[in-house]
Amino acid sequence: MTIRNLDDLLAEGVSGRRVLVRADLNVPLDKQTGDITDDGRIRAVLPTLSALVQAGAKVVVCSHLGRPKGAPDPQFSLRPVAGRLGELLGAPVHFAEDTVGDSAQSTVADLADGQVALLENLRFNKGETSKDEAERGTFADQLAALGDAYVDDAFGAVHRKHASVHDVPARLPHVAGRLVLREVEVLSKLTGAPERPYVVVLGGSKVSDKLAVIEALLPTVDRLLIGGGMCFTFLKAQGHEVGTSLLEEEMVETCRNLLERFAGKIMLPVDVVAADAFAPDAAHDTVPADGIPSHRLGLDIGPETVAGFAAALSQAKTIFWNGPMGVFEMAAFANGTRGVAEAITKTDAFSVVGGGDSAAAVRALGLDESSFGHISTGGGASLEYLEGKTLPGIAALEN
Ligand code: 3PG
Ligand code: MG
Repeated sequence: MTIRNLDDLLAEGVSGRRVLVRADLNVPLDKQTGDITDDGRIRAVLPTLSALVQAGAKVVVCSHLGRPKGAPDPQFSLRPVAGRLGELLGAPVHFAEDTVGDSAQSTVADLADGQVALLENLRFNKGETSKDEAERGTFADQLAALGDAYVDDAFGAVHRKHASVHDVPARLPHVAGRLVLREVEVLSKLTGAPERPYVVVLGGSKVSDKLAVIEALLPTVDRLLIGGGMCFTFLKAQGHEVGTSLLEEEMVETCRNLLERFAGKIMLPVDVVAADAFAPDAAHDTVPADGIPSHRLGLDIGPETVAGFAAALSQAKTIFWNGPMGVFEMAAFANGTRGVAEAITKTDAFSVVGGGDSAAAVRALGLDESSFGHISTGGGASLEYLEGKTLPGIAALEN
């Protein structure tokens, strides 16, 4: 790989230089209080930031948060993230009220060597996500003017062709940060020659979101275990009635086709937890996958399915898991996700957890993060990597 990394930049010397770091600090916030509910993505970028601080760089961090529409929107401010980042670094983080305006310029100009600033949300600017090259380019010029070198450590955003990800590296000396490097190293093991059996567990609500990765993975994996909301479209394709469960009618034919082509590889639930309503206190029972009552919807995989999935996982030497098995946010429907996660921690396989929801599930269920081989900070990014797509953020670092 021709990508230069943080060590190459540190070897050149960064003392007194302004280093612009693109991070993915897109953390979940509590809707009521605005508090950060999971700071995993902030912690994930600390190794890069600490190394730069220690080397005496003036560290300018930028990120998006949520999906504001190209203009300032207080509910998506990065200010609370600056506070948390400062706590974790053990030194205050200077916060700029805008991204490339007066506040950003003076905040950066006032940085002493070894100090850190965080700019306001990149997506408060139309240029960040614009499809228009010139509009993105103008914003990238302004951002690039705040740094002497660029580090991409925003793995969760490398699949976005956005100004801070794709266009700034064309304007500054650029390297991959520690997180991006580690993510790519780990995921490239899965696309290269994974130790076998290689077992993938996929969940989440929609088949249509995951179809590309399912099609890319099926020829290469030994087993694909399917749970979560999307299993009902597969169960329907198997000929079962699914009651009022989540169903993508227009995907049934595609699923039927996949089941025919990869019959020996795909494992579907044999039992599900079916409830009267999508609610934490809804009446519910475990039923066979071919016996979902017409007025009920499946909200989790059942215990027999968990046991079957666990048995398949126990044979694995390599595991990739993306997407919850049920509505784990509701205690009554969390057992499938917990069971699969625990089964993964019990194997001696090299295990990778991909993506926001599954990583959050691991932490929300109180599981030990260190019993997984790697927990990716990228949801869409890790899936697109496994699909073999060219990721704009990685490609930009290669040039
Ligand atoms: C994510 O949460 O998946 C990343 O931060 C990317 O965010 P996006 O999907 O809004 O581009
Ligand atoms: Mg996303």
